[in-house]
Amino acid sequence: MSDHAHASEPEQDGRPAHGRADGPAYVWRGPFTNPEVNALHAQGFDHPVLDIDWHGQLHRHSLGWVCARVGDELVGFVNVAWDGGVHAFVLDTVVGEGWRRTGIGRGLVEAAVVGARAAGCEWLHVDFEAHLRAFYFDACGFRTTEAGLIAL
Ligand SMILES: CC(C)(COP(=O)(O)OP(=O)(O)OC[C@H]1O[C@@H](n2cnc3c(N)ncnc32)[C@H](O)[C@@H]1OP(=O)(O)O)[C@@H](O)C(=O)NCCC(=O)NCCS
Repeated sequence: MSDHAHASEPEQDGRPAHGRADGPAYVWRGPFTNPEVNALHAQGFDHPVLDIDWHGQLHRHSLGWVCARVGDELVGFVNVAWDGGVHAFVLDTVVGEGWRRTGIGRGLVEAAVVGARAAGCEWLHVDFEAHLRAFYFDACGFRTTEAGLIAL
């Protein structure tokens, strides 16, 4: 669905979200547990459920993250990494299997844009596989640039 009007406005700094009754609530630096994010990652990136300490990693290293919740359920998550200055990086945007193509991915990125801008960043970067061009370019508003990657 390309119309995102049913989703709530992004909220800031982990304060309670005020999402509309019919849409998810997006919370910048919202609370989450490791099992919630590990379960979403397993669904999104096709691997067994791992035991990664997302809570510790993100609080130590990230500018922020966005939690999308419907009621108590974490239905989407994105990590926003940071260079400590004006560059932020969207990593691992993920939406729960049963919730995809309802605008939540776009809502996560919109909230990441708002959060990164409010933190003083000037650029938000992303890289992705070719099949997600429509998502990042058309739905989320990224523009093309030259970029590179080395597998370490
Ligand atoms: C990629 C992902 C986050 C998108 O989330 P989503 O909530 O399904 O996306 P949205 O509903 O906001 O999509 C908005 C638009 O983007 C495009 N889009 C979204 N997912 C797409 C896909 N898999 N292939 C092609 N276009 C896609 C569509 O144009 C869509 O609008 P439409 O549904 O009206 O056609 C989700 O599919 C996911 O979690 N995938 C697995 C994890 C992953 O690969 N993450 C990306 C890491 S870079």
